[in-house]
Amino acid sequence: MKENIKVLISEADVDKKIEEIGKAISERYAGKTVHLICVLKGGAFFMCELAKRITVPVSMDFMAVSSYGAGTVSSGSIKMIKDLDESIEGKEVIIVEDIIDSGRTLDKLMELLKTRNPKSLAVCTLLDKPDRRVVDVKVDYTCFNIPDEFVVGYGLDYDQKYRNLPYIGVVEFED
Ligand code: IMP
Ligand code: MG
Repeated sequence: MKENIKVLISEADVDKKIEEIGKAISERYAGKTVHLICVLKGGAFFMCELAKRITVPVSMDFMAVSSYGAGTVSSGSIKMIKDLDESIEGKEVIIVEDIIDSGRTLDKLMELLKTRNPKSLAVCTLLDKPDRRVVDVKVDYTCFNIPDEFVVGYGLDYDQKYRNLPYIGVVEFED
């Protein structure tokens, strides 16, 4: 089957929105240092672009988790693939996510990170599919709400492909 990518959100629109969110974070955290936590691999492109647009001091760390089970539907629990390098105790933490779908990954992640006593814990996501929510999670910053379609680009993959696309696209299959 041939795959075709249809542009959903252009590179220019993504850039503009990240600029706005970066400004909002800089204002909200004025006089503080924000500690960005990237959820790999999908959050990597977004976190780099976001960090460049935040004007307060920024530190960064990375973690990788996976939901148990295969396919494009995520299951109920997460497995730690790579933990953070540094302690988050007393820090103003922002989790940077590529997309929130059912909300299960984020819910489990927040439960874990809260036990490590950050000063504050916020969530910033590039994309949100609110129609798919199963677990109620509080998201502080959302760049775009999107319909229930499988998207790629800007860090998001289909079968590990298309993460490098500079825009957000929908995968269409052709015979
Ligand atoms: P949740 O636990 O259901 O919220 O799953 C979130 C994770 O599922 C994301 O971090 C992605 O890895 C993956 N995911 C959900 N929807 C999409 C999509 O449309 N494209 C690519 N990955 C997705
Ligand atoms: Mg993710």
